[in-house]
Amino acid sequence: MPYNKEGRYQRIHQQLQELFSSNNNILSRMATINTLLYHKMEGFFWVGFYLLQDERLLVGPYQGPLACLELARNKGVCWAAINSGKTMVVPDVHKFPGHIACDSRSKSEIVILLKNFNHAITGVLDIDSNLVDHFDEVDARHLEQIAALAYQEQDLL
Ligand code: SME
Repeated sequence: MPYNKEGRYQRIHQQLQELFSSNNNILSRMATINTLLYHKMEGFFWVGFYLLQDERLLVGPYQGPLACLELARNKGVCWAAINSGKTMVVPDVHKFPGHIACDSRSKSEIVILLKNFNHAITGVLDIDSNLVDHFDEVDARHLEQIAALAYQEQDLL
């Protein structure tokens, strides 16, 4: 059967909503988002959160190979998303000036902003693919909806 990306995102979103209806811990929710995306989406080589803390961007829960613990300030794709306030889709990371390569097998990347209930940016959901040009508008739209499930109203993180 051909790979139906939209359908897979919809099922993941629904499953997460069901799982999160009885969970009130943001780290548990982040870990669960990572594992479903990593294991159910094709070409997702690394999936994880980088979290802002005292103006530093530090790795949070993730799935995949070892990643950088901290991303040098205002460098790379994750900081570009935070500084521009927008989702970043990078078809070829080697052509992105300042890209931070935590693993040389990463070829393309998408970075989604993580926002709390006060609309403040608190970090990012970062996904790397080992395939060039793996992410598009469909990924951006669905991943923005999925990242938004991480927060519930009471979370201060
Ligand atoms: N490539 C990212 C760094 C994080 S890794 O992809 C896991 C960046 O340039 O910000």
